[in-house]
Amino acid sequence: MRDSVIETSDLRKTYVMGGSEIHALDGVSLNVERGDLLAITGPSGSGKSTLMNILGCLDRPDDGDYLLDGEDVATLDDNRLAEIRNRKIGFVFQSFNLLPRVSALEQVELPLLYGGGNRQKRPAKSAPAAAGAPVGAGKAPNELSDAEQRAGVARDLMLQKGGAGWRDRAREALIAVGLEDRMSHKPTELSGGQQQRVAIARALVTDPAIILADEPTGNLDSRTSEELMALLLRLNADRGITVLFITHEEEIARRTNRIIRMRDGRIADEERGDFAGGESSNSGAEAGQAPSESSIDDGEETPSQAGSSPATPARSSEVAP
Ligand SMILES: Nc1ncnc2c1ncn2[C@@H]1O[C@H](COP(=O)(O)OP(=O)(O)OP(=O)(O)O)[C@@H](O)[C@H]1O
Ligand SMILES: [Mg+2]
Repeated sequence: MRDSVIETSDLRKTYVMGGSEIHALDGVSLNVERGDLLAITGPSGSGKSTLMNILGCLDRPDDGDYLLDGEDVATLDDNRLAEIRNRKIGFVFQSFNLLPRVSALEQVELPLLYGGGNRQKRPAKSAPAAAGAPVGAGKAPNELSDAEQRAGVARDLMLQKGGAGWRDRAREALIAVGLEDRMSHKPTELSGGQQQRVAIARALVTDPAIILADEPTGNLDSRTSEELMALLLRLNADRGITVLFITHEEEIARRTNRIIRMRDGRIADEERGDFAGGESSNSGAEAGQAPSESSIDDGEETPSQAGSSPATPARSSEVAP
C-alpha cells in the first residue's frame, strides 16, 4: 500500500497587495510518498516557497486540504502547528540559518530542546522540553530572535546536563553528514558546505517525517552543491528519508526521481523516473490540469500551460528572519 507523507488537495493562497490579488497558490494537489526524493522547480514568483512554507507548517493555506503524515493540519492553530512542525519537519534553508556563536553540536541539539526531542520511532530518554516552556518554545531555531537565541542556548546548555540522550543523537546526526571532526566548530569556523551539512544534521536529528529544503545549494559553488546533493541522495537511499527541495538548477533537479514544475501558482508539469539512469516519464499535472505533451529528452523546461499570465512579480518574502 502506498504510504503518503504529504497529501494536499487544491491548496490556495492569495495575497492582496495594493488592491490587486496575487494567487501565489492557485490549486495545488500533491501527493508525496514516504521515501520520495522530489525537486520543485519553476520560475521566480511561481509559488515554490509559498508551497514549501505551507507544507512545512510555517504558514496555512486560505483553502484546500493538507494531510501531513496522516494528520489534518490545514486548519490547526499556531501552537498545534508549531508542535507538529517541530515533530515532523526538518528544514534546510538557502542561507543555512545557523546561530552565530554556537558550536555545530549545540546547533544540532537545539531542535530537540524546542520540542522535537520526543520522536515517535524511538522512545525518548528524557522529556525536559515538556517540563516548563523553554524560551522560544514552538518556534523553529531559525525563527528565534537574538535574545531568544542567547537565552535559549543558555537554557539548552543547562538542560544538556540532564539530557545525555540528546547529545548522543546530535553526535549521530553530525556523523551521518560527515562532520564527526567538526563538532565543536562555530559557523565562522566552517566552510559553506560544512555549514549546510550542520543544517542538514539539525534537520535530521528529530527523525522528521520529511526534510524540506528551499534552495539548499543556492549559496554553494557547483562542486560543493554536488557534494551536498550526494549527501541528500545518500540519506534518502540509505535511510529512506523523504526529501523535498526547491531548486532553480535543472541538473540538481535531475538528480532526484521526481520533478514538479510550478508556474503561476500551479503544478504545470511533473516528471518521474530514474533520471541518473536516463529513464523518465512525463505525466500530466495533478488537480485536473491538462497533461503536457512536451518531450523531456532535451532536458529543456517544458512550455507553460496555454494562456499563462504575464511575468509574475519578483518574490517578496523569505521564511528566514
Ligand atoms: N507575504 C507576501 N505578501 C504578498 N505577496 C507575496 C508574499 N509572499 C509571496 N508573495 C507573492 O506570491 C508569489 C509567489 O511567491 P513565492 O515566494 O512562493 O515564489 P517562488 O516561486 O518561491 O520564487 P523564487 O524562485 O523567487 O524564490 C510571488 O508573486 C510573490 O510576490
Ligand atoms: Mg522562493
